[in-house]
Amino acid sequence: MEIVLIGLPGSGKSAVGRRLAARHGATFVDLDDLIEHEAGVRIPEIFAEEGEAGFRTRERAVIQALGRPDESLELRRVVAPGGGAVVDPRNRWLLYRGRVPVWLDGRPEILAQRLRRSPNIRPLITGRDPIRALRDLTTARSRFYGAAIRVAGMTEVNAVVDSVERAIAGASTSGVLLLRAETVIGRIVLGEHIAGPTIVDELARLGARRAIVITEPGAWAATAAALEGPIRAAGLDLELVMLPQGEAAKRLSVVEQAASELARLRVERGEPIVAVGGGALGDTAGFIAATYLRGVPFIQVPTTLAAQIDSSIGGKTGVDLAEGKNLVGAFHQPASIVIDIALLDGLSERDRRAAMGEAVKMAALGDERLFELLETRGPAIASGDPAAVADGSLAEIVERCAWAKVEVVAADEKESTVRIALNLGHSLGHAFEAAGGFADLRHGEAVAFGLRAACRIGVSVGVTPPERAARVERLLDTLGLGKGLLPYPLEVVMGHLGADKKHHAGHLRWVLPTDRGYVVRDDIAESMVREVAAGLLEPVAVGGAR
Ligand SMILES: NC(=O)c1ccc[n+]([C@@H]2O[C@H](COP(=O)([O-])OP(=O)(O)OC[C@H]3O[C@@H](n4cnc5c(N)ncnc54)[C@H](O)[C@@H]3O)[C@@H](O)[C@H]2O)c1
Repeated sequence: MEIVLIGLPGSGKSAVGRRLAARHGATFVDLDDLIEHEAGVRIPEIFAEEGEAGFRTRERAVIQALGRPDESLELRRVVAPGGGAVVDPRNRWLLYRGRVPVWLDGRPEILAQRLRRSPNIRPLITGRDPIRALRDLTTARSRFYGAAIRVAGMTEVNAVVDSVERAIAGASTSGVLLLRAETVIGRIVLGEHIAGPTIVDELARLGARRAIVITEPGAWAATAAALEGPIRAAGLDLELVMLPQGEAAKRLSVVEQAASELARLRVERGEPIVAVGGGALGDTAGFIAATYLRGVPFIQVPTTLAAQIDSSIGGKTGVDLAEGKNLVGAFHQPASIVIDIALLDGLSERDRRAAMGEAVKMAALGDERLFELLETRGPAIASGDPAAVADGSLAEIVERCAWAKVEVVAADEKESTVRIALNLGHSLGHAFEAAGGFADLRHGEAVAFGLRAACRIGVSVGVTPPERAARVERLLDTLGLGKGLLPYPLEVVMGHLGADKKHHAGHLRWVLPTDRGYVVRDDIAESMVREVAAGLLEPVAVGGAR
């Protein structure tokens, strides 16, 4: 067994790590010492000469050099990284997988007192009010530390070592928790092979007596093996409410039937529902949770890539009418969202690839690391190459996209301000999707065409630098998205776009990419939109509409 001790500066990682390792005849590795040893200079000098970026590159290298953990039962190695190492998803993937992460937690006031007595210089704190600096670091890092076993680390060293020993007794390394965050839109838990035990924990937190799972045949076939065992092992009865697969779930008649089933099961107010499935299932189950008994709590367990990076987050629930998609719905935030990338193993290539359309949107909104990651590893993820899971690329993409959405939605739950950014690529994307009767194109595939359109409009009006637009379009090419021409009549597409316009008081608000972000414009001439849309449609289709 190997342990990773994490925590803020001053939390005692080195002292506790050394003592713990000594007790067990294990090796202690202080990663900051290793970095200094290899660089031949102290950390403040590395910061001064190479900046934080240079230090982080060195830090990644020593983490990589740790190699695979020893998974025998005895404690063999205790690793103490610097407090900021776990901010980078790549480091967390390498450090937490197969090891037991333990967070030595302490109040900033006490940590600050300790730091005053310490001879070490801490580059991220020096020159600032230490309590405020430590509070800021706590806020920024709590979701990464929160994925570890928490030990209050503020007592005498031997007592803390005792607490760590108690905390790790029986700890399992069969799954890896990468992130756990308490947010205004619910608790977010993300990892690999974690769904079963995490659902059980969340049900216990919500005081559930049984597990009422709303799912559909495709999602349940892919996930039952991982979920049923832990639920039953926890002594919970499993009640399955099965909805139709895919978009067919998003009907009011399905909601009525499912609600009747809940009534037959005598589901009471306060009893949580677990929604296991992709976006269609999550939208419907969320709407049932929003309306049954005027609202019951629910846990989202997204099982498609599109749902993990997008639809399960944000509290938009609803169903379709014959007149259009998502016309009946409600905002209802889940109590928790459990994102387990291992549930994606059997997902079809088309569903994986399509979801990348939303990921490209998130990158285009200004996440440069995500851009780079999609350019290098996107094709492998889209094709389902297991190497892209093993090297942590899938986990990082899911985390970056999901967390970006959490931040935007938490800042603007009801889409009155910044949430509109998430509509990048969606105006024409939605119109293309509608023109195909919501059957031809997956949502993400339509968004890819919409992104091309937004880039082209942005270049024409001078807000998108041509190099930026070219980079987005090249990435879509690499991912095999938004390619070729769509077979829809221009007037049909423009008609759907016009329907969208009504929702914005007569003006369609266009989200357009800038150099490293976006702007919102409501003055885009219809003639320009027509020209750009026509460029993405088959000439016959365009001509046929004249
Ligand atoms: N609420 C929101 O904010 C939001 C955002 C974007 C999209 N959406 C909605 O999401 C829906 C599309 O979601 P989707 O792309 O996840 O489609 P989906 O839910 O229809 O799932 C696609 C297919 O994957 C199968 N599947 C599910 N999990 C699987 C697994 N683990 N392994 C193998 N197959 C599995 C399903 O059975 C289905 O056939 C649309 O209805 C769209 O409107 C909602």
